[in-house]
Amino acid sequence: MPPLTPGPVLGYLAGMRREPHPRLRTIAAEGEAEGLPLVYPDTGALLHTLALSCGARRILEIGTCIGYSTLWLATALPADGMLITMEYDADRAGRARDHFAAAGLGDRVSVMVGDATRFLHKIAGPFDLIFQDSDKQLYEPMRDRLIELLRPGGLLVADNILWNGEVIPGYVHHLKYTAEDTAAIVSFSRALAADPRLYTSFLQVGDGVSVSVKIGG
Ligand SMILES: C[S@@+](CC[C@H](N)C(=O)[O-])C[C@H]1O[C@@H](n2cnc3c(N)ncnc32)[C@H](O)[C@@H]1O
Repeated sequence: MPPLTPGPVLGYLAGMRREPHPRLRTIAAEGEAEGLPLVYPDTGALLHTLALSCGARRILEIGTCIGYSTLWLATALPADGMLITMEYDADRAGRARDHFAAAGLGDRVSVMVGDATRFLHKIAGPFDLIFQDSDKQLYEPMRDRLIELLRPGGLLVADNILWNGEVIPGYVHHLKYTAEDTAAIVSFSRALAADPRLYTSFLQVGDGVSVSVKIGG
């Protein structure tokens, strides 16, 4: 748990969270047992809310792992909606596919296995919502292409914007992450804040989440 929100506050809020699919519990338990870097449940609930609120029919996710955040997003899609998620670890991608099939959502979700940096130039938009949760040093290099792929009024959401609080110099004494990854998140966040194509809110949810709306249209 990042030291960003006091435990009793998290506990109080968790008591009101409704999970849209029982398979989420299974995936979260696997992730916890194996120490996988899945989004926090409050981030998952935020993703589900955002997808519903923008009426998302086409969603793109970068960084599937075993499909936890994907399932929060996919459960917000209408029956004819679609989600593309990208993961370069074939074993994780296979497990994610199994979870989507078991959840009855396999028809709505396509998992692309390989380097998202290359795939991004082969797929066509527009997407209603894009969730960035891959290698932190790829956030900034992918930013322009993700904005191109988004429809006007669509949402670009990125996880780990607070990065265990390590983006604040001197705030965390025992650092978990590399200086390079931390610097990459800071420069991505500053670029989002200054980007005239977007309006961005930075939220203290989970490990920090940015929510950017593409202006225009
Ligand atoms: C933080 S985890 C994703 C967690 C997932 N979004 C969730 O919350 O359930 C990041 C994942 O991105 C994958 N990844 C990192 N860089 C990638 C890239 N360039 N292309 C595809 N996948 C990538 C990693 O293998 C890892 O499984």
